[in-house]
Amino acid sequence: MFRRVEDASARPKVAFTFDGRRIEARAGDSVAAALLAVGILRFRTTPISGAPRGPYCLMGACFDCLVMIDGLGNRQACLTEVAEGMRVETQQGKREAGR
Ligand code: FES
Repeated sequence: MFRRVEDASARPKVAFTFDGRRIEARAGDSVAAALLAVGILRFRTTPISGAPRGPYCLMGACFDCLVMIDGLGNRQACLTEVAEGMRVETQQGKREAGR
């Protein structure tokens, strides 16, 4: 569904995990871009119905890309750059501030 518009092969590889699955990205990718590039569309579930949500705006406005990163919730995947060893997880429902 998504493909890169540039040849990213010159940038160094960065490995992280999403729900325990190893994902290989390129340095400078956002978490959202890296996940979309490998076909992952579901990033969180809504607090009330549990419906799946994924990135929509990719510019920090809609908050549909919220994920857990290294144990912290409510992180915007579209505004967070991937880092080696980062642990990203689906955010289930709401998260309390500071958790
Ligand atoms: S995709 Fe809209 S805020 Fe991240």
